[in-house]
Amino acid sequence: MGIGQRKIRPLVAGNWKMNGLKASLAEALAVRDALTGAEGAFAADVMIAPPATLIGGFAAALGDYPLLLAGQDCHPKASGAHTGDIAAEMLKDAGASAVIVGHSERRADHGETNATVRAKAEAAHRAGIMAIICVGETREERTSGRTLSVVSKQLQQSAPGSATAANTVIAYEPVWAIGTGLTPTPDDVKSVHAAIRNNLISLFGPEGEGMRVLYGGSVKPDNAACLMAVENVDGALVGGASLKAGDFLAIVSAYGDT
Ligand code: PGA
Repeated sequence: MGIGQRKIRPLVAGNWKMNGLKASLAEALAVRDALTGAEGAFAADVMIAPPATLIGGFAAALGDYPLLLAGQDCHPKASGAHTGDIAAEMLKDAGASAVIVGHSERRADHGETNATVRAKAEAAHRAGIMAIICVGETREERTSGRTLSVVSKQLQQSAPGSATAANTVIAYEPVWAIGTGLTPTPDDVKSVHAAIRNNLISLFGPEGEGMRVLYGGSVKPDNAACLMAVENVDGALVGGASLKAGDFLAIVSAYGDT
């Protein structure tokens, strides 16, 4: 299917990671203004996940925005004695409509297991926001031919039974492609996304057919159109290139002419 005949509305999400201060609002406003000025010409939903400290201020400043906001992580519980943690309900209260869960940096740096990720996705659903569930293989897993089995297992164990096409997005992010400038070939992306789609259909039936599956890992303005044109790629999760409005908008504009 070409980029112009999609049945699923794509999502382009920017993951700012641990970057951004109040002054970064200028980037968010520039993205919002470009989307607003385009009057719907972008055939995709557009979202940024700034640090949690910025969500409330951004939500207030963006107003009735076509630019969506997300958190980068949440605690499984709604409240309680968990110093330093943030509940999905708090992200929603601050103005987020989604939260990224299971990013490989959190799986690696904080020892998050598939069970943890699943509990966090359930928390997002409980709070009434979308869960963006990340999966992806390491370099060693790819070179030893285990990509599809690793990704399928992550998906089966991280996606909760409460997942629907409206409340869940899957992001395939090969760990070795994140922040490295390396990307899989379009054929490799195609085969992993096909496996993810098959898994989603067997797990969730028709809901799995409509669930968005994003590609993430070194998406840049110069490779976005090629990656976004791959079958079963329903948008992008963008790290480094989402920090500057110009680069991020150039990626979003892979969907601008549809
Ligand atoms: P990158 O990060 O675009 O900087 O590779 C992607 C991500 O980690 O979500």
